Amino acid sequence: MKEKIKKQESIFEKRLAYHHDELRWLYMELYDNTSMFAELCDNLFQFYEERKEELKKQDLYREQHTGWYKQNDMLGMMFYIDNFAGNMAGVEEKLDYLEQSNVNYIHLMPFLETPEGRSDGGYAVSDFRKVQEKLGTMEDLESLTAACHKKHMNVCMDFVMNHTSEEHEWAKKARQGDGEYMSRYFFYDNDSIPNMYEKTVPQVFPTTAPGNFTWLPDAGHYVMTSFYPYQWDLNYKNPRVFNEMMYNFLYLANRGIDIIRIDAVPYIWKELNTQCRNLKQVHTIVRMMRIISEIVCPGVLLLGEVVMEPEKVVPYFGTVEKPECHMLYNVTTMATTWHTVATRDVSLLKKQLDIVNGLPKEYVFLNYLRCHDDIGWGLDYDSLQCEGIGERSHKQYLNNYFQGYEGASNSRGELYNADPVTGDARFCGTTASMCGIEKAGFERDEEAMEKAIQLDVMLHAYMFMQSGIPVLYSGDEIGQVNDYTYKESPNKREDSRYIHRGAMNWNLAEKIKDKTSVEGRIFQRLNTLEKIRKTEKVFVCQADTWTIDTNDSSILCIGRHYEGEKIIGIFNFSEYDKTAWINETDGMYTDMLSGSQMKASGVKIPAYRFMYLKRNGGI
Ligand code: GLC
Repeated sequence: MKEKIKKQESIFEKRLAYHHDELRWLYMELYDNTSMFAELCDNLFQFYEERKEELKKQDLYREQHTGWYKQNDMLGMMFYIDNFAGNMAGVEEKLDYLEQSNVNYIHLMPFLETPEGRSDGGYAVSDFRKVQEKLGTMEDLESLTAACHKKHMNVCMDFVMNHTSEEHEWAKKARQGDGEYMSRYFFYDNDSIPNMYEKTVPQVFPTTAPGNFTWLPDAGHYVMTSFYPYQWDLNYKNPRVFNEMMYNFLYLANRGIDIIRIDAVPYIWKELNTQCRNLKQVHTIVRMMRIISEIVCPGVLLLGEVVMEPEKVVPYFGTVEKPECHMLYNVTTMATTWHTVATRDVSLLKKQLDIVNGLPKEYVFLNYLRCHDDIGWGLDYDSLQCEGIGERSHKQYLNNYFQGYEGASNSRGELYNADPVTGDARFCGTTASMCGIEKAGFERDEEAMEKAIQLDVMLHAYMFMQSGIPVLYSGDEIGQVNDYTYKESPNKREDSRYIHRGAMNWNLAEKIKDKTSVEGRIFQRLNTLEKIRKTEKVFVCQADTWTIDTNDSSILCIGRHYEGEKIIGIFNFSEYDKTAWINETDGMYTDMLSGSQMKASGVKIPAYRFMYLKRNGGI
């Protein structure tokens, strides 16, 4: 026993010794406070000691196999627990379904304590150590993560560190005028500083929550609220905030969480006269989090939520020597994908993929077609401008197109945060609805339905070819359409993101084996692709990935190469049958879906179809 304890201590000591100087240096740079730093280090050891044996074993394995999450079997799915299966125990019962869907990483959307009706979908946390009662308990969470690990599934959760709910105990004390707690937020007794901030800080929710401050009449103070008025921004200039939030992070990691999604990370440091986004101190904090996780729980991954243009996203990977996040969302590619659907023109997408493919292979992106949030039209407008496409009119076109008002569109969905001043708006809808499945179902038009399904499956096939890890939103695997019932709920009706956060329809999911149903057609076609993905090693994150010219504006071609094997994917984004004018002269290829042998040149691709071609071996 003594031996074991000694060994454990020495593992911790070794990790701490390796990182200590850098951590101390970064901490002192921000806080210049040795006693708080000492307190932090003591707590790191406490959390390390408290970590379960199985998790420590997993940490050791992952420390040795740092590429463990970059394999071709990684497939994520995100869902709200209540929508998916009622509660945590319900999710545990559905693990077989997830396995059947080839999913080995689940993102449990926010499940911590949050006030009903003032929760922003759970992103306003009032207690970081308590599960919402209706969803279960911390024990249920530990039981779920353990059950997932038995099935080699990873569990991701949100760590909402930019703000707390106004109902958090710190916020309550701050509201009562307790200076210690007021200093954990941004409190001002008059509007002069808030007004100065407003001059340079853009708005996140210009329509649903305008402004960056909220007046609290009972407290006689303004408080900074970049998101909703009930989400109070934390002040990371206060080392107490940093330390306590790190303890919360480690507490959650110790419940068996594998991936921590750092919510709204670019916003966590504020300075007057700046946009309060992506400031250099944010990177210091994320780097410290990475070091802290490498000391206490190196098996845990950091996933940064940076919904910004590529130049701003990439720095969150840090450098190869001083990494920050393990994974980031491929947000610009996602938005550009839908631009391509609406315009049938792949040139901007190709350019975007070339940028991503040119980055170091250590950088792992999460690819997705849509998530729980709106789609913001963050495109490369400089490039579009060169073709005479203006930003404002194009955004208007995209929003009209996806609402089904303009162009040859079969999409359905709603605008989000339409800003009357700038004319800007974002968009909400499920993948299936945006592909035309909702409309075709409503009109009982079988021909249109098959086309819509083809577009939907083609988009997934293309996403699986991208460099990185694909993540599905629950329900997309069976083509679930928009859910308009949110309009009946007073707590949700103002927030159109709920249109694509509908509950999983298990009656429809029962049809996954029925090849004639919409659900069965989508589920089975995706299943085939997922199986190809996990058996072919060219789908590992470290593979070379590039685009190939097709000489047709609607056809995208992506190549992947790894250890002598090569697969190319060809995707037709138009409703016309086309030919991909490629000419890969390195041998014969096998069409991975039909098995037929062919040359990879002048390949015919029907409307909204795709092909995966594998180069025959031994050539
Ligand atoms: C993130 C979440 C979003 C939430 C916001 C505020 O962007 O994805 O749903 O509204 O953070 O916490």
